[in-house]
Amino acid sequence: MLIRKPAMGWNTWNTFARDINDELIREIADFMVKEGYLDAGYDTLVIDDNWQENERVDGHLAPDKSRFPNGIKPLADYVHSKGLKFGIYSAAGVRTCCNKPGSFGYEYVDAQDFADWGVDYLKYDLCHFPGSGDRKSAYLTMSMALKSTGRDIEYSAAICGEANPGEWMRSIGAHNYRMSGDITDSFGSISFIAQRRMNEHDFTAPGCYADMDMLVVGMDGKGYAAKGGCSIDEYFTHFALWCFYSSPLMIGCDIRKISPESKKILFNKDLIAINQDEECNAPYRERQSRYAQIVKDKFTVAKQLSGNKIAFGFFNFADSKVIQTSYMTDFGIPSYANKTLLFRNIQTGETFKVKDSHSVELDPHACAVYIAEFVD
Ligand code: GLA
Repeated sequence: MLIRKPAMGWNTWNTFARDINDELIREIADFMVKEGYLDAGYDTLVIDDNWQENERVDGHLAPDKSRFPNGIKPLADYVHSKGLKFGIYSAAGVRTCCNKPGSFGYEYVDAQDFADWGVDYLKYDLCHFPGSGDRKSAYLTMSMALKSTGRDIEYSAAICGEANPGEWMRSIGAHNYRMSGDITDSFGSISFIAQRRMNEHDFTAPGCYADMDMLVVGMDGKGYAAKGGCSIDEYFTHFALWCFYSSPLMIGCDIRKISPESKKILFNKDLIAINQDEECNAPYRERQSRYAQIVKDKFTVAKQLSGNKIAFGFFNFADSKVIQTSYMTDFGIPSYANKTLLFRNIQTGETFKVKDSHSVELDPHACAVYIAEFVD
């Protein structure tokens, strides 16, 4: 299956957690199309945990009858009829994180059911995994089981950073893998995940991406993963980081109630283009070899994009205003090269030339993002 870019879509968990049903999914599918999410690139609707009955029925996973009375296939058909892809959830352990039956020992049965139902995306978690079990082999088994069905199914390994997944996830056929624990709707959680991502080896390349977890943009402190909520600056910084680091972009808020400011962030064409860039380069953090492991305040990253463009992100994790100055020599453009970059600020549209350095004042937890190109 040819997957080249980070997945984009919507997932039930962050807002609705266990409280999901057929009607909600249909309504969200309608909204994703009507409100332009599909056109913006968010093409996959994923039902997370708790869609299942408490036990298998005749050896098969079965949808909870009260909440999904029509079964999964008709729901997948409805989602497809809207032009969206349909995703579902299971786990590599004996039970899922919501204590529903897991796929351990049933990988080939479940994969075939998913394929028969029309599933296009599988989020595969890691709860209740046997202590003696081999995680790598469990993820490989489901990957092969999916292949055996003959259906193209994007494989999302939600392993939550266990067992150094970046080192082997590509080899077992995952298209993305969770590199951290669960996000909450708070800047502390966003910066914690970003710190971890920045300090790990970068295995991201077309086809397999480190997943920093679902987005909290637009939750505004409401829903399951709510922990106080974030300011608009914080949501923008969150989205920018996920885009610079090529994370899948799975929306987690209730898009039926999203504020126009948050929607604008999710629809930011420049940031989405940074996320989905063909070259899929990891960003370079300035002076990263000399920096402490933990960034407490400010830093700059540059991500080389296709078309000889460069995206610069100036970030402030501090709780106070800072001035962030970056020297182009730290990004491989020394003064003796005598080169000039044209910077375009993606938030304001302002353009200006940069020769040796650029300084910007950043509010607490805010960032400035520029698309740059050499002009002479
Ligand atoms: C784990 C995952 C979450 C979500 C829940 C569902 O915590 O990391 O993203 O899927 O399980 O139970």
